[in-house]
Amino acid sequence: MSAGKLFSPFKLGALALPNRIAMAPMTRCRAANPAIAPTPMMVEYYGLRADAGLIVSEGVPVSPQARGYAFTPGLYSTAQVAGWQAVTQEVHQQGGRIFAQLWHCGRISHGSLREDNAPPVGPSILAANGRSMALDRATGQPAFVTCETPRALSTAEVKGVVGEFVQAARNAIAAGFDGVEIHGANGYLLDQFRCPYVNDRHDEYGGSLENRCRLHLDIAREVAAAVGRERTGIRLSPHGQANDMRPDPEPMATYGYLAEELQKLGLAYLHLYDQSTSWIHDADDALLRLIRAKFTNALMLCGGFDGAKAEAALAAGSGDLIAIGKPFISNPDLVARLRQGVETAPWDSKTFYVGGHGGYLDYPSFSA
Ligand SMILES: Cc1cc2nc3c(=O)[nH]c(=O)nc-3n(C[C@H](O)[C@H](O)[C@H](O)COP(=O)(O)O)c2cc1C
Repeated sequence: MSAGKLFSPFKLGALALPNRIAMAPMTRCRAANPAIAPTPMMVEYYGLRADAGLIVSEGVPVSPQARGYAFTPGLYSTAQVAGWQAVTQEVHQQGGRIFAQLWHCGRISHGSLREDNAPPVGPSILAANGRSMALDRATGQPAFVTCETPRALSTAEVKGVVGEFVQAARNAIAAGFDGVEIHGANGYLLDQFRCPYVNDRHDEYGGSLENRCRLHLDIAREVAAAVGRERTGIRLSPHGQANDMRPDPEPMATYGYLAEELQKLGLAYLHLYDQSTSWIHDADDALLRLIRAKFTNALMLCGGFDGAKAEAALAAGSGDLIAIGKPFISNPDLVARLRQGVETAPWDSKTFYVGGHGGYLDYPSFSA
């Protein structure tokens, strides 16, 4: 195809990426086993997509309390580390690189996901008008249900959450991941702390902008100290409204501050997801420009990208890497298709979160 930048190499921390395409993190809920550990099906799924410059794994709960959806494989038990080890080995064998996305769902959760039925936790007791994928204990089947009312974390417990991220990051490296991406986006725990409409705390994690962003920065600092800043990235979703978030009242101040502080910590990359698939494609967007100016390490962009839009964003200098989500689900050979200008196959959203092999491993490669 074109001689654009998409297929040019990029140095991300210590990693040499052969192209600028990242596979976006995508929860697929396929770990339907008692240990909630990665399965051989997942080994095959990720291995087939190893020609991405970087794979970011599905969201990986950092603890039982962090869970928000059934069958999402964690990184807090020996069995889960062993399961991920098989995934990372296969990706590496196929020539790829993979980061683990570390995830705490906070109030987007349901007690049925925990052995002791413990309710969700959050910055406050405000329940989300949203859905969690709960587990019907009688049938063992997952079911989308309204989120339960959370319990507000104490200050000491918030610090405990930071520790859970650190331990999960260490476990990720032990499992052979090349690094970790902290999930700070999409209305989950970190985003809940940032949001002034959800966070009504009076401790050091509530009130001022600095306090509401403290959890992001504490986790980023401690994880980077534990596994290396060159192996640590973070994801944010400015303007995002998913999972009952309301638009940030001061996006320039909030994300300008976060970008600046994350740069001071020297993280390998900042991943921006535009849920509206609009402003991220506008090289003149004021917030995008501000973040780009303040965060000078690698910037990854996500939200509605195809080959042409990815080339346009890279040519305009809006970002360094482009993360692509849904097309990777239905095209295991997406990178080859983009490189050769082959049409991409459509995805079936009905099998995103449910099902086994179907909608997971039965999308063909174009050469097959
Ligand atoms: C099935 C599915 C699961 C997703 N799971 C996650 C996730 O675990 N973590 C996350 O940060 N984003 C998640 N996302 C959002 C994607 O990473 C991505 O931002 C979104 O699909 C937009 O990119 P696209 O337009 O290229 O699909 C998910 C999206 C889909 C479709």
